[in-house]
Amino acid sequence: MNLYKLKAAAKINLYLEILGHRPDGFHELIMVMQSLDLADVITVQGHVGSGIYLHCDHPQVPKDHTNLAYRAAALMIQTFPQAAAHHGGIDITIQKQIPIGAGLAGGSADAAATLVGVDLLWQLGLAQQELQELGAQLGSDIPFCISGGTALATGRGEQLDNLGLTHLYAVLGKYNSLSVSTPWAYKTYRDHFGDTYLDLATTGAERREAIHSGPILGAIAHQDGPTIGQLLHNDLEKVVLPAHPQVADLKTTMAGVGGLGTLMSGSGPTVFTLTSTRAEAEAIAQQVQEKIADPDLGIWVTELLPTGIQLESTGIQN
Ligand code: C5P
Repeated sequence: MNLYKLKAAAKINLYLEILGHRPDGFHELIMVMQSLDLADVITVQGHVGSGIYLHCDHPQVPKDHTNLAYRAAALMIQTFPQAAAHHGGIDITIQKQIPIGAGLAGGSADAAATLVGVDLLWQLGLAQQELQELGAQLGSDIPFCISGGTALATGRGEQLDNLGLTHLYAVLGKYNSLSVSTPWAYKTYRDHFGDTYLDLATTGAERREAIHSGPILGAIAHQDGPTIGQLLHNDLEKVVLPAHPQVADLKTTMAGVGGLGTLMSGSGPTVFTLTSTRAEAEAIAQQVQEKIADPDLGIWVTELLPTGIQLESTGIQN
């Protein structure tokens, strides 16, 4: 049987606006999501017998059914029982590069790669949209992680319109010991700002329409890095930054040393600065490290990526 090695890209949010509360309990969002050249490597191969076998080199990553990649494999077995019976078990190895609990969709990217990998392993020939519909059952960010690049994401985050943005770089900063729970961030936002939520059927629908002709999509269409930098926005900063002053300070420090603009990604706590060149990103990374001088602070320099899950290599398993 073959084995498939896939690159699973992290994402940042260039824009995240919370419109209101949906009947399904999720929040209605407008986001601009962007893949990064910071990626986990996922190897998917067959396993004798049946079942799911998950390996990961990172001690904090769960290896059981609580791992989203494990749940992605379970969903494939449940959805395609005949293929599962024919091909046997699924073996998944995750080489972790994306920091965990970071607001960078690392777990979602691993699950996205698992869906793509099992599709290849079982030769199902699923269309990208079918894989994205399966992914949406497991998590709001998984459909984006499959197709990647730059996208406007609405609904729960699973409705995607592709945009294109290239030739920009990002410096990421995250305290290794700090993680933020996404459910906590959204719940706290609702507790504080629920009274400002839009009526989704009327004002919310107008807002969703308006974003298409709004300044951030215009700046992306023109590849206008400086304007994109000024328009970076994330509503979740309003609850995460006050709860974690360390992250607020990191944002202030990063914004103070240059770049096009600085923002917290998703529910945090990763903060990023966009730059036009790699050299500028590296200079900012060095200055932030010198100014904060805390061994707990992880800094990454990376490039925006135009793709999501990519097949790196195929091999014959031993
Ligand atoms: O979809 P996902 O499992 O990634 O979402 C994690 C949590 O984030 C949800 O359980 C929910 O609390 C919150 N969330 C939300 N609205 C969204 C996406 C996520 O409230 N559109």
